[in-house]
Amino acid sequence: MSKPKRYTITTALPYTNGPIHIGHLAGVYVPADIYARYLRLTGNEVVFIGGSDEHGVPITIKAKNEGVTPQDIVDKYHAIIKKSFEDFGITYDNYSRTSAQIHHDTASEFFKTLDAKGEFIEETTEQLYDEEANQFLADRFVVGTCPNCGYEESYGDQCENCGTSHNATDLINPKSAITGNTPTLKRTKHWFLPLDKHEAFLKEWILEGHKKDWKSNVYGQCKSWIDDGLRPRAVTRDLDWGIPVPAEGGEGKVLYVWFDAPIGYISSTKEWAEREGKGWEPYWKDKDTKLVHFIGKDNIVFHCIIFPAMLKAEGNYILPENVPANEFLNLEGNKLSTSKNWAVWLPEYLEEFPGQQDVLRYALNANAPETKDNDFTWKDFQARNNNELVAIFGNFINRVVVLTNKYYAGIVPEPSEFTEVDEETLAAVKAYPDVIASSIERYRFREAGQELMNLARLGNKYLADAEPWKVIKEDEARTKTIMYLALQIASALATLSEPFLPFTSTKLKNILCHSALDAESTWNDITTKEVLLPAGHQIGKAELLFSKIEDTTIQKQLDKLEASKKVNEAANKTVEPQKDTITFEDFTKLDIRVGTILEAEKMPKTKKLLKLKVDTGIDTRTIVSGIAESFSAEEVVGKRVTVLVNLAPRALRGVESQGMILMTETPEGKLVFVNPDSEHVVSNGLKIS
Ligand code: MF3
Ligand code: ZN
Repeated sequence: MSKPKRYTITTALPYTNGPIHIGHLAGVYVPADIYARYLRLTGNEVVFIGGSDEHGVPITIKAKNEGVTPQDIVDKYHAIIKKSFEDFGITYDNYSRTSAQIHHDTASEFFKTLDAKGEFIEETTEQLYDEEANQFLADRFVVGTCPNCGYEESYGDQCENCGTSHNATDLINPKSAITGNTPTLKRTKHWFLPLDKHEAFLKEWILEGHKKDWKSNVYGQCKSWIDDGLRPRAVTRDLDWGIPVPAEGGEGKVLYVWFDAPIGYISSTKEWAEREGKGWEPYWKDKDTKLVHFIGKDNIVFHCIIFPAMLKAEGNYILPENVPANEFLNLEGNKLSTSKNWAVWLPEYLEEFPGQQDVLRYALNANAPETKDNDFTWKDFQARNNNELVAIFGNFINRVVVLTNKYYAGIVPEPSEFTEVDEETLAAVKAYPDVIASSIERYRFREAGQELMNLARLGNKYLADAEPWKVIKEDEARTKTIMYLALQIASALATLSEPFLPFTSTKLKNILCHSALDAESTWNDITTKEVLLPAGHQIGKAELLFSKIEDTTIQKQLDKLEASKKVNEAANKTVEPQKDTITFEDFTKLDIRVGTILEAEKMPKTKKLLKLKVDTGIDTRTIVSGIAESFSAEEVVGKRVTVLVNLAPRALRGVESQGMILMTETPEGKLVFVNPDSEHVVSNGLKIS
């Protein structure tokens, strides 16, 4: 274990245009919280910083769509998001928002400092403009083809498909997201941060300095950015929602959201320090402070290239020591999507799994997309709960607490001599704080969580092998030793589980009456202290830590997703326009009869065609029908079908077809018969709907 240090830990500020979902939690907030809690438990000085990102185009678009102001939108979602973080035990020292005055002031000052130092280039260039909406089209106000990967729905500032970030004018075939019009070009002045000027420093700092300690996904993205050559980036926008540009000629312009948002980490730290009566500067300017940014992979360039260039240009700030970005979490095999409602929203989860925050934290961490995109499935969630939390962790604790109450009225018994197995077990327990710490310090939170479960496994196995419930019949002294030792493991679990299962840890500490101890054990005490729960210490009664999740509960969640999918499919289906009107006389020319398919065979060398023999009631005739992709020959034989019998005969692949079987298409695009037995057909086969 390393010696105590000062840490500034930040988490990506979520956009306040919707609630947050499991992807956010798994990728950023759970790992950051594990890290912050662990560092505090090991005696470090930590400030853990969060806040809402309340500027940017998506928020103004949402406000427009809902007919409210951007402020209404951010107020609503800031409250919802902040509450979700509290509900899930994310232990921020401060959670701020970028609409706060302190942030406007801090970001303005930052801009002015860089401006005064000559760190910007001011340039009038042509930008995309929507004549009808009467506004410039920055960032998400414009959609077009990504110049890098060809994805057709790339935004003006970033492509969600390949992750590259570009200028709106780089888009191929751009379209206004407001009116759908093709934009024109209009001249306007902006401030640019010349990233090229910082290239040498970035190369040295990242490519040489952090090759070994940054995650390979992060390092790789940085390298490809730098290798591509860095160019000046505009840090202002022609918009009316954001922080006004504090410079001459800045009227009607605001700071680019990605310029102001990361400065939000600094403003949030200031807000916290003011409240605590501390100085904020050591957390951002002291060379010994470790700055760590937790983010998702789409934020890498901003945190590793652009923000560090800003900090460096300012001159007084430290740079991040690490940026442990995660990849993306998928849900049941599909990309999480707010617009498609393909997500598990945190407020909704809590309604359906009240009090079970730790289960989600645990399952998400166990499956975190640390090195590659990963899939969250409800089945896995259930298995993590039932097979690990319930069957291992919960089961072990429950046995220990129940037996201690049963045998010793809840008092930790006096041990006698330890056996070899006891000694080995104790030594293994004492090794865990270091094992878990070393995983956490390398940002391997999944591995750390599994090691915690391994400690519970060790406890479970110890009890199962020692069988105190049998031994008690013949050897009371030995039973006491077993129970004493099992209680020490339970106490170690209570402390070590805190970063991962904070609610469970609190419950368990209460059950074990940790607060009645002279001094509650810290992380490191588990290794160094002789005993954690001394003989004579009174513990409380057993309480259920986890409970089994039934198949029906999981099915309900799967059904909900299935319903979302249906809604999306229906919304995406483009309905073909109605054909030209025909007269009743036209209609009565059609002679439609009910027939029965007598024989069917696949037409050789075709994909779609079946050759049918149909009894029409008038005669038996051959009809060639293009349905082979939807039906096999076998399954149509015997079917009653609706037949247009007076259609002029036509040769198809050398076979004369004498009529047509009526078919229609379901919303899912599957062919179905217009079936005389089905509810769609009224009367004797003449009216078709
Ligand atoms: N709002 C951004 C997103 O959700 C993240 C901003 S992080 C910060 O992708 F650095 F700008 F704060
Ligand atoms: Zn792309």
